Amino acid sequence: MRISDPQLRGHLAERGVDLRPGAKLSEWTSLGIGGTTDMLRITKHASIPDLLGLLEASRVPHRFLGGGSNLLVDDGELPWVVLQLVPPEPDVVLEGNLAHIDAAADLGRTVTFCAKHDLGGMEGLIGVPGTVGGALRMNAGAYGMQIGTYVREVQLYRAAARKIETLRGHQISFEYRHTSFAADDMMLAVILELPSKPYNEILNGIRICNEKRRSSQPLGQKSAGCIFKNPPGASAGRMMDELGLKGLSIGDARVSERHANFFVNAGHASAKDMLALIGDVRERVRKAYGVALENEVVVWNA
Ligand code: EPU
Repeated sequence: MRISDPQLRGHLAERGVDLRPGAKLSEWTSLGIGGTTDMLRITKHASIPDLLGLLEASRVPHRFLGGGSNLLVDDGELPWVVLQLVPPEPDVVLEGNLAHIDAAADLGRTVTFCAKHDLGGMEGLIGVPGTVGGALRMNAGAYGMQIGTYVREVQLYRAAARKIETLRGHQISFEYRHTSFAADDMMLAVILELPSKPYNEILNGIRICNEKRRSSQPLGQKSAGCIFKNPPGASAGRMMDELGLKGLSIGDARVSERHANFFVNAGHASAKDMLALIGDVRERVRKAYGVALENEVVVWNA
């Protein structure tokens, strides 16, 4: 979708928006898949309600993009513009055990920064790509921890109320790779309350998680992390492995040889290839185990 109206472009510029016309979303997603659209990079949180009012009045549909690391975007010219927050400098401010973090902050760098200040708890998330906002929305977790445990407060744009609101941790439900945020809520900032731990102890935990991840996941390849959620009490990756699906490909979309729940873009995979592979694998698992695997990856169909 292109914003061609010069007046609207002017209004966006006045609100500190950096307009990237014809951005290729394949360059903004870890899968390296996605078509073309105008991208609006936002520097001022406070301008968001006004900005969205402008887009709505001009009938320009939009989607919010975090770090693009758990996302499969359709091919071709996309029918919505994409909004993304630009992280401020600094994007993490510490106050005792509280970490005030911008939603656009890089997750891995945030975990490391907090560790250096003797704040732990998030060791398991090291190596998970993406932003803090994205991790929050999905309640990202690994190795027995999940980010929701540490949430004290979240600032978000609530599309339904058309305003910026603050929610306390107990007002949000954090479940396995699921939260009570609405699909069109935009995460803006979070306060995490993290346990004090000596840096060396945190570093040791980080090293252990890093090693586990490196030995079991295809880290150097283009992927969106795990494609499916684990069904209760089972591992989707193990089920697919047992069915001999590692290496199964459609075009350049391929089930990883290292971890079957990671589907990689082995070259120039299209969204069509990846979606076909997801559908094919889901059907094989359903036939073999009678289990309907649910997507963990978020799909943006045009
Ligand atoms: N396994 C296989 N073959 C495979 C993959 C796994 O046999 O191809 C076996 C493993 O050997 C292990 C068991 O299945 O015995 C579980 O594997 P793993 O420890 O890798 O855990 P997982 O259930 O596959 C989950 C999360 C990961 C997270 C890891 C570590 C989901 C869908 N996956 O994977 O999260 O990193 O545990 O805590 O919840 C993600 O969310 O994108 C993600 C990758």
